[in-house]
Amino acid sequence: MGAKKKTEIICRCNNVSRETIEQAIKNGATTLNDIFDTTSAGVGPCGGSCRRKLGPLLDYYLKNGTFPDKITEDLSGKAPAPQKKDT
Ligand code: FES
Repeated sequence: MGAKKKTEIICRCNNVSRETIEQAIKNGATTLNDIFDTTSAGVGPCGGSCRRKLGPLLDYYLKNGTFPDKITEDLSGKAPAPQKKDT
C-alpha cells in the first residue's frame, strides 16, 4: 500500500512527485514559497496549477502532522494561476 500515491506527480511542469513535496514539508517547509524554493514545484510554465494541491497538502500536514491519503484540491478560486484553458 502507499507506494503508488507517493510517486504521484503533483507538479507536471517540473515533474515533482508527491514524495519530494512531502519530504520538503517534513524538512521544514511551512509555506508555499518554501515548497517552490526547495522542490521547484508550483513555479513551472503553467503558472502554478498544481498549487491547488500543494496548498491543501501543506495545510493538512501543518494541522495534523501527517499527510492525507488523498489530496483535496483547493478549487475555491484563490489559486494564483490564471485559469487559462487551451481552447
Ligand atoms: S504543474 Fe506545477 S507549476 Fe505547472
